[in-house]
Amino acid sequence: MLRSYARHDYVELPRILDSVGLGATMEPVVLDVGGGTGTLAKLILEHLQKSHPEVQVLVLDLPEVLAQIEPSAGLWLCEGDLRSEWTVPAVPSMVVMARVLHDFHDSAALEILSNAFQTLKPGGHLIIVEFVLQDDGGSSGGLCDLHLLAVTGGRERTAKELHLLVEAAGFVNLEWHDMVSLPSVLAAEKPT
Ligand SMILES: C[S@@+](CC[C@H](N)C(=O)[O-])C[C@H]1O[C@@H](n2cnc3c(N)ncnc32)[C@H](O)[C@@H]1O
Repeated sequence: MLRSYARHDYVELPRILDSVGLGATMEPVVLDVGGGTGTLAKLILEHLQKSHPEVQVLVLDLPEVLAQIEPSAGLWLCEGDLRSEWTVPAVPSMVVMARVLHDFHDSAALEILSNAFQTLKPGGHLIIVEFVLQDDGGSSGGLCDLHLLAVTGGRERTAKELHLLVEAAGFVNLEWHDMVSLPSVLAAEKPT
C-alpha cells in the first residue's frame, strides 16, 4: 500500500530531474538517501535507463529496510546511518532526499545535508521532496507535524525554513518545483 502511494506521489519526479539537467549528465549516478523500500529509486532507474543504460542508482538506508528491496540491474544498496559518514561505491551526480528531513530536528537535518554536500560531486544537484508548510502557519499539515514531533522529534517545515537549512549546508542556486501531488521539490546545487 505505502509503495503504491509513493509511486503515485513521485510519478512526476523524473520529469523534474530532467529539467535540472540529470538526463544531460554523461554517466549519471543518483543517490537516494533514506530511500526506504526503493520505490522512488526504481522509478528513477527505469526512467534514466532508457537514455543511459549505464546509470547507477544507489539507495542508502538501514540494513533491515534495504533487506525488503528486490535486486535490480543498476540498483545498488548501501547500508548506513544518515548521521554518520556515508560510504557509497560511486560519487553521485545527484542526491535525492524524499520525506527524510522531516524526521529530524534542525541540527540533525543540517548534519544530513552536510553529508550530502560532502558526498556529491562538485556541480551536482540535491533534490529534496517534502510536504511544505504554509508561511502564515495555516493549519494544513499541522496534524502530520504534531505526529512527527511526538514520534521522531522532527517536523514539517516552511519553504523559508528549508531554504535556510539547505543554504547553511553550502548549497547554492535553490529553486522550487511544484508537483500536482502534495509534496514540493526543492532543487539546489553544490558549487563547482
Ligand atoms: C519517511 S521514510 C521515506 C522513505 C522514502 N524516501 C519515500 O519517500 O518513500 C524515511 C526513511 O529514512 C530512513 N532512515 C531514518 N533514519 C535513518 C538513519 N539514521 N539512517 C539511515 N536511514 C534512516 C528510514 O529507514 C526510512 O526508510
